[in-house]
This record gives sequence, structure tokens and C-alpha cells, in this order.
Amino acid sequence: MAYTVPKLKDYSAPALDKAVQELLSALQQESKDVSSESDWKTFRDRWMARKNGVLTQVNVLWLKAAPEDAKRDVGQRVNQLKKQVEEVVEQTPEWLKGGASAARLTAEALDITLPGIRRPLGAEHPVIKTSNEMVAIFRNLGYSVEEGPEVETDYYNFESLNFPPNHPARDTQDTLFISGQESKPLRERLLLRTHTSPVQIRTMERLKPPIRIVIPGKVYRNDPPDASHSPMFHQIEGLAVDTNITLGDLKGTLDHAMKAMFGSSVKTAFRPSFFPFTEPSAEMLVSCFICGGSGRRGTEPCRPCKQTGWIEILGCGMVDPNVFEFVKDNGYDPKRVSGFAFGMGADRIALLKYGVDDLQLFFQGDVRFLEQFV
Ligand code: DAH
Repeated sequence: MAYTVPKLKDYSAPALDKAVQELLSALQQESKDVSSESDWKTFRDRWMARKNGVLTQVNVLWLKAAPEDAKRDVGQRVNQLKKQVEEVVEQTPEWLKGGASAARLTAEALDITLPGIRRPLGAEHPVIKTSNEMVAIFRNLGYSVEEGPEVETDYYNFESLNFPPNHPARDTQDTLFISGQESKPLRERLLLRTHTSPVQIRTMERLKPPIRIVIPGKVYRNDPPDASHSPMFHQIEGLAVDTNITLGDLKGTLDHAMKAMFGSSVKTAFRPSFFPFTEPSAEMLVSCFICGGSGRRGTEPCRPCKQTGWIEILGCGMVDPNVFEFVKDNGYDPKRVSGFAFGMGADRIALLKYGVDDLQLFFQGDVRFLEQFV
């Protein structure tokens, strides 16, 4: 039960001692229960409020009521009590009394002038960086970015790109097939895409012409890893289809892109080639941006261009009408539209650009190698 100040009948020293003891033990007890700032204020007021605090009551009930001959003794004890009560109230922990200012004092115990914890910044992988640069060049020409699945069907990877079943051109792609697909019709069987070209068809199924797209992504081939091969690598594909696209558009666009990528002084050249999904097809060459096209670096032969002064950089061509036949119903009537397409290897371009001589370095994840490209 809460302590109340008793009236005194007996003013003898032992009786006064006992009353004082009871009061002090109530004080101690109540101070222990203080656990918040508002508790503390209630506690302070209960004991020290001028109007009806315990000390005021002690004054009235003990001192004022005391007989004349006990007043001196009672007065001394009451003074003593006052000090003790004040002390206990004051001693209540700093943080409970100060509120915001106490919280600030605690916070300032943190030394904000100490150096922070430095977390190393990550960086784009050199291959992704190269790919992003190429994509940005085409985006600036108004191309949009498309992506597609890495696990692809035979239909999108081959058939709709004019590689008929059993066509020998399929063998050039060292395909990694997903096992257990034999019960499905050929065109539904799954494989790891060998190029980003299937996204051409996937996009033409979705978007009507005209379109201009770039397609960055990972591709897979059954090539044992060595300094210039990897079972996983990266391509950047492009496709433009409209009513009047010509070989001149292809050449102008790609010439611009190569100059934007490798510097305005590079020259470009085309050499006939073959891809089932383009007709005519070509390989594009850029003059070697390492030796400036001379084939030599000082007295040394230039290795990246094999001393020819030219570097093969991509495959391209005019979209074969047979490809449009597969998406004819979506507005790609080969009699009405024409287009060009191209595809290049981002890893190879990164190798050349950074003068790295082993493709495997890109995929081993050694931070000491990778952090050089930040
Ligand atoms: N898909 C071809 C490959 O991986 C590259 C390519 C060549 C893509 C010509 C094209 C193209 O779009 O027109 O070898």
C-alpha cells in the first residue's frame, strides 16, 4: 500500500526515529519503481510538490502539530529529511530527467570525426561494360533493347531463322541440347541458345513493323574453353525492319556504330559471307584500332589483327524473306518490308578493346583482374 504521512501522537525520540525510518524506506522503495521520465515527474511531485507533497505534509502533520518542547527536535529531523528526499529525487538517472537533451548527450558519445567503414565499390564487368557501350550507341540511334530466354526451342533458335531440320548450317553452331526432349516434336525441343538471333523472331511476333532493336545477351556453345573460346559468351544482335531498308542503311548504320565505338578514324569494310537468315550476308571488318591498320606495332607484328590491319567484328546481312514468312501474319510481308540484321561478340570486342590476351580471365572472377577495369 502506498505510504501516507501519519499523524504523530508520540514525540519521543524513539517514536520520531521510527516515523522517519518508515518515511525513508517508502522513499527508497518508490524511487526504485521509477522507469521513465513521466514516472520520475510523478515521483518528484509526490514527494516535493509545494501543495500537497509528502514533505509539505510532514511539515504540517509533524512540525506544526508538535508540542512546543518537541519542536526543536522535530524541526531538525524534518530539515534532515528534506535534504534526503531532495537527494534521492535528484539522483534518479540522468537520462530519465533530461528527455531530448539527455538523448542528445548519449548520441554525441559517438565520435562522428572517426573515419567511416569503407566498403569497396563494385564495378561493371568489362564484358558487360563493353556490351552496354555498344547498346548505348544504338539507343542513341533510336533502337530499343529487347531480351529473350537463354533456354530456347529448336524453332526459335534454328527453324524460324531458316535453318531447316538437318540443314548443315546447324552443325556450325555446336549446340548444347537439353536432355530428355526426344518425345517432343523437333521444333519444341529445348536447347541453350547458340546466338541472340532467336530474339529477332520473338520480337517480330510481338511488335509490328517498323522496328529497330538491339539484343544483348548470353549465348552457349559446346566449345571447350581456351584463350579465345568459352562455352558461354555474349552477343549483341541488331535488327531494323521497315518498308524501305536497303544495304546502304546497313552499311551506314554499322559504319557509324564502329566509329562511335572505336574512334572516328577507323575504317570499315565488308566481305561476303553466309548466314541462313540473311541474304546477302556479309562479315564486317574494322581497320585495326590497335596498330592503326598498319599490321605492325613498331618493329613487332600486330597480333590482334594477325598483321592484316583488319579485324573481323561482326556478321550481318539483309533479312532473308524466308525469315519474314514465319511472322508474315504480324505485318512482316516480305513483299512489303525489308530489313537488315547483325550480330557481334561482346567478349571479343572487350578482349580487343582492353588488350586482354586470354578470354578465360573474364570468367574466372579474380577480383585482382576485374578491378583493373573500374
Ligand atoms: N547469329 C550469328 C552467329 O551467332 C551472328 C549473326 C550474323 C547475326 C548475321 C545476325 C546476322 O543477325 O545478320 O554467328
